[in-house]
Amino acid sequence: MPTPTLNPHLPFGENKQADWYGKDILSVKQFSRADLEYVFGVAHEMRGMVERIGTFDLLKGKILANLFYEPSTRTSSSFIAAMERLGGSVISINEVKYSSVSKGESLPDTIRTLECYADVIVLRHPETGSAAIAAKAAKKPVLNAGDGVGEHPTQALLDTFTIMEELGRLDNITVTMLGDLKYGRTVHSLARLLTNFTNVKLNYVSPDILKMPKEVMDEVGEKNVPQTEHSSLDKVLAETDVLYVTRVQKERFEDPADYEKVKGAYVIDPEIMKHAKKDMIVMHPLPRVGEISTDFDDDPRAAYFRQMEYGLYVRMALLAMVLGKA
Ligand code: ASP
Ligand code: CP
Repeated sequence: MPTPTLNPHLPFGENKQADWYGKDILSVKQFSRADLEYVFGVAHEMRGMVERIGTFDLLKGKILANLFYEPSTRTSSSFIAAMERLGGSVISINEVKYSSVSKGESLPDTIRTLECYADVIVLRHPETGSAAIAAKAAKKPVLNAGDGVGEHPTQALLDTFTIMEELGRLDNITVTMLGDLKYGRTVHSLARLLTNFTNVKLNYVSPDILKMPKEVMDEVGEKNVPQTEHSSLDKVLAETDVLYVTRVQKERFEDPADYEKVKGAYVIDPEIMKHAKKDMIVMHPLPRVGEISTDFDDDPRAAYFRQMEYGLYVRMALLAMVLGKA
């Protein structure tokens, strides 16, 4: 869908439903602080409704097409659960090889097909920019569920919602991102989204070959958010309020030998976490493949499983918003 422009003259909260109705969600760049506060408010209400009554009919009769060209457990199933908890239904294409994609059908044609049957499309695809291409072909809203190494905006929305629910604030925080900052699309979205808040400091800890891309650092820098780069956690762990751990994205390496050099570069365990604050949290978009020791899972600071659950409420909020029912 062409993105309608927000009316800057409306006070926060007024006519927000109209702002998001029919809109695509392609990048975190679409979200202002007021938008985020609105999403968090709706997600918080969704949480309460799920806890009280489980399933309700806000999107009864609406259909979601869930189109995944790359593997997914959380994003795919939480969008399905979100739609079904709101009383809607889902066309799931989780394995595109069994669809006409394997006969050579293009992404725009696949999207045009699905929108004949569905009211909203969620897309994960290995190429950066694919969600924007899909949105151009579609008249119905397209939600980007990860476009290659580009962005994963709904993840960043659930990540910021997690920080809000867990720490009670998004201002005045130090966030340390650890691991594969080059190929990890979740950190590309999260770093950008955090620029909406005041007194946020970002530390990037990674092997030299997996540093945060310059393009992202430049955008964050333009918003005057301080950023520092490190190869070790030592100097920054003690000041960290949110430690955001990522998986080294094996599938994105051109040379497997490079992956071998950096896999297992960092492992968070109870011993290391003795040097962190008591009231901080550890997050991870998941799946983890050894970056966080399971010995740490019972620590109250381990927020990564709660983070997955928050994803359900945020995705319920986003579906309701783009379908005009929030
Ligand atoms: N699940 C996240 C993503 O799809 C993170 C990861 O796979 O490591 O980007
Ligand atoms: N966090 C995330 O996107 O998980 P999946 O890859 O399992 O969807």
